[in-house]
This record gives sequence, structure tokens and C-alpha cells, in this order.
Amino acid sequence: LERLNCNVFPNAPAAARKVADDIATLIRDRAEKGKSCVLGLATGSTPVGIYAELVRLHKEEGLSFANVVTFNLDEYYPMQPNELQSYVRFMHEHLFDHIDIPAENVHIPDGTVPADQVAEYCQKYEEKIAEVGGIDIQLLGIGRTGHIGFNEPGSDETSRTRLITLDTVTRTDAASDFFGAENVPRRAITMGVGTILNAWKIYILAFGENKAQIVARTVEGEQHPGVPATYLQQHRNVEMLLDPAAATELT
Ligand code: F6R
Repeated sequence: LERLNCNVFPNAPAAARKVADDIATLIRDRAEKGKSCVLGLATGSTPVGIYAELVRLHKEEGLSFANVVTFNLDEYYPMQPNELQSYVRFMHEHLFDHIDIPAENVHIPDGTVPADQVAEYCQKYEEKIAEVGGIDIQLLGIGRTGHIGFNEPGSDETSRTRLITLDTVTRTDAASDFFGAENVPRRAITMGVGTILNAWKIYILAFGENKAQIVARTVEGEQHPGVPATYLQQHRNVEMLLDPAAATELT
């Protein structure tokens, strides 16, 4: 059993600043060498502070995203990009509309692909990640089910980008965004656990008491498809950033 590398920060904004600073350092380092920087991005409440800090670094400190390529983890299925709850919309509102990233460098799973073409679409998403040399930095939140991306319980370490069925707990947690659990899509497209584990560096963040129990299981539990986040224990370059409330169940 290998314990995940965890750091407890005084509060969520402090953790967000640390991750944003690391991202900015890599972007600048690559830009100096004339190279690109590939980021794997998450949505939800957890990374919002990171995106706010990256926008600030762009506006106030001249950080350019001209050499940045991004791949988002997931999108509800089906989902139109202009819908209120779409992750395309989320990413534009929190990050892409406020920085100088070239539009063609942004990749977010497409919730409009016809059902009979989803498998092929997902394979192409994997190929695009491979074509740019893989993900340098992957950001993750964690769901109360232990999902990373939308890899719900049952997802193993070899899983790749695919269509999945969302867990009831996840749909309950998303209910307020959709004005009722019955309106939450039943499925999503997500990068796989295996896709995530291929990243060079992984940051997983969790804030608040609601995450304390799943954080403890992720850090201290045995690797098991029942808690897909436990597979992060096998990655050699992963850092978990917590606020004090999310760390309360750790031994
Ligand atoms: C979102 C994603 C999910 C979220 C997780 C936590 O792109 O992949 O795994 O990171 O559901 O969501 P929040 O941050 O809203 O608690």
C-alpha cells in the first residue's frame, strides 16, 4: 500500500495559487524553448480558483497561453455546447475567454456526437493527446464516489476515453446545477483512468468536509476499481492538495 503524497494548505485559494504558479512556470519554460505545454483540465467547483489565478497572471503579469494546448477530462452526454451546464461553456467562462489561447488548441469532449460515432470519436481524442506528446500537467478534482474525470466506481486502471454511465451519487451532487436530479444527463464522455495515469504530473485537489471521507479512502485505501482515484497511488508524480476540512479523516 502506497500512500499518496498529500499537502494540506491553510485554505483553498492558497492551494490554487500553488498549482497556478507551477503551471505558469512550465508554460514560460516551454515558451523559452519554443515548445508547447499540454494541460489536462477539469471543471466543477474545485479548479475555479486555479483558473482565476491563471487569468490574473495573464492580465497582470503577462503570462501568455499562445503555446498552450488543452484537453478537458469530460463532458455530459448528450450536451449542447451552449447549454448552461455544458463544460464547454464552463471553460470559456472561467478561462478561455480571458486568455490568449488559440481556439484550435482547445479540446473538450463533444457532447453532440451521434451515439453510433462516440466510440470512434473517443479513440480520436486519445490519438490527439498522443499526437501532441501527451499531457504534461493534469488537474483533477474528486467526486464523492471516488471518481476522477467521470470514471465512476467500476472503472479500472486500463480504461481509456469512452462513454460512461454516471453514478446516482454524482447525479445527485449535480442536481442543483440542473434544477433537479431528473434533469442530469445519465451519461458522460470521459478520459479514462489509464489516460489520466499517462500524464507526466498530476495535481488532485479536494476542498471541504464533504470530501474528507473519499480523500481518506483515496490516500489510504487499497487500489480498487470501487474507488477509481486509488489508482493514482501508482503514479510517480502526483500531488494531492487539500484544505484542512478535506484532510480531517486522514490518519
Ligand atoms: C469535472 C470532473 C469531476 C469533478 C468532481 C468534483 O471535470 O472531472 O471529476 O472534478 O466531480 O467536482 P467538484 O469540484 O464540483 O466538487
